[in-house]
Amino acid sequence: MNAASPPAVQRIDVALPGERAYPILLGDGLLGAVDVLAPHIGRRVLVVSNPAVAGLYLDALRPSLGNAQVDCVEIGDGEQFKTLETYAAILDALIEKRHHRTTTVVALGGGVVGDVAGFAAATYQRGVGLVQIPTTLLAQVDSSVGGKTAVNHSAGKNMIGAFHQPRAVLADVATLKTLPLREYRAGLAEVVKYGVIADVEFFAWLETHMDELVAKDAKALLHAVQRSCQIKAAVVAEDEREQGRRAILNFGHTFGHAIEALTGFRYLHGEAVAVGMAMAMDLSVRLGRANDRDAARVRRLLDAAGLPLDADVEPQAMLTAMAMDKKALDDQLRLVVCDALGRVCVTAQAPRAAVHAAIEGCRTRHTPRASGNSAA
Ligand code: NAD
Ligand code: GLY
Repeated sequence: MNAASPPAVQRIDVALPGERAYPILLGDGLLGAVDVLAPHIGRRVLVVSNPAVAGLYLDALRPSLGNAQVDCVEIGDGEQFKTLETYAAILDALIEKRHHRTTTVVALGGGVVGDVAGFAAATYQRGVGLVQIPTTLLAQVDSSVGGKTAVNHSAGKNMIGAFHQPRAVLADVATLKTLPLREYRAGLAEVVKYGVIADVEFFAWLETHMDELVAKDAKALLHAVQRSCQIKAAVVAEDEREQGRRAILNFGHTFGHAIEALTGFRYLHGEAVAVGMAMAMDLSVRLGRANDRDAARVRRLLDAAGLPLDADVEPQAMLTAMAMDKKALDDQLRLVVCDALGRVCVTAQAPRAAVHAAIEGCRTRHTPRASGNSAA
C-alpha cells in the first residue's frame, strides 16, 4: 500500500430491518482512518477499553472519532471482569460525565470489552448507540457481530444481557499483530466453526491456508475474517433473536461453556469451543449423522490451528453444567450436530448416553497449550 493512500475498506452488511441494519467495515490498517467511523458516531463518545488494549490502540483510534467529544473508561482485563460490577462502573462513568441518549459507546477490545460495553449501551437511558471495534480475532469474527451483549453470573456465563445491535463494526486485522498467539489461536476456533456449520469450500480453503493464518498473514486473515463475517451476518439477518437458525452458531458451544465453567476458565473461550467441536463431531458420528472422515478432518484442522481436542472433564459434571445452558429447554439438551461438513442442525433428541460417550471420547488429563503466548 502507498503510504499516502487510505486503507482499503471491505464492507459486509448485516441486513436487519430498518435502523438495526449496519455495516462491518474490514481492512488492514483501518483503526485511525478518518471518515470511516464518522457516519456511525454521535457528537459525544464514551470509549470502553481495558488498560492493555487502550495502551496499544487508543491514541491510534482518536483520528477516526473526528470532532466528537471523547471520554474513556477502562475496565479490568479478563473474563473475571465480565460482571455486573464492571457494567455498573461503565454506567457510573456515563452518568458522571453526563452523557445523554445521543452518546455513542465505542467498545475497543476483545469480546469481554464488547459484551459488557454493549450491555451498558443497551441499557443506559433505555439504549444508546454502540460501535464495536474488536481487537481480537474471536471478537472480529464473532462477538462484535450480531448484537448479543451480556455479563456473567456465578450461575453461568452470559446469564444477564440483552440484544443490542451496534451501529457499525470496525475490524482492523492489523491490530491482531499484537495479540498473544494463544488468544489468536483461540479465535481460529470460531473461524473453523464457520466452515463446519455453513461452507465446506471455506473449510477446504482453511485446510490449505492454516499455516498462513497461524503466521498472521494479512491477505489470508482478511479472507478468513471476511468469509466468517459474511456467514455470521447472513445467519443473524435471518434470525436476529435466535428463534431458530441462529442456534447453529453455537456449534460446540454448549460443551465449550461447560468446559470453561468446570475448569475455572483455565481454557480460553475459543479453546473450550475447539474441544466442544471435537465432542460435537464425535456425537454426530455416534448419532449416525456425520461420518468418521469429516470428524477426522475437523480434528486435524483444529490441531493444525494449535487448538486442544480434549479436556480433563468428568462427563457427569459436564452434563449437569450443560443443563444450565440457556439453550436447554425444559431440561432437554438442545445440541448442534453436524450432518456433513458445511451442514448442521439443532437436535433435542440426542440420547444422554451418546452425549456422555462423546464427552468421555474427548477426555484426557490434558491442559490447554500454554506455550506461544507472545504476540508473534
Ligand atoms: P478477551 O476480550 O478477554 O481478550 C483476550 C485478551 O487479549 C485480553 O487480555 C485482552 O486485553 C487482550 N487483547 C485484546 N486485543 C488485543 C490486541 N490487539 N493486542 C494485544 N492484546 C489484546 O477475549 P476474547 O476471546 O476476545 O472474547 C471472549 C469473550 O467473548 C467471552 O466472554 C465470550 O463469552 C464472549 N463472546 C461473545 C459472543 C457474542 O456473540 N457476544 C460470541 C463469542 C464470544
Ligand atoms: N456467538 C453466537 C451468536 O452470536 O449467536
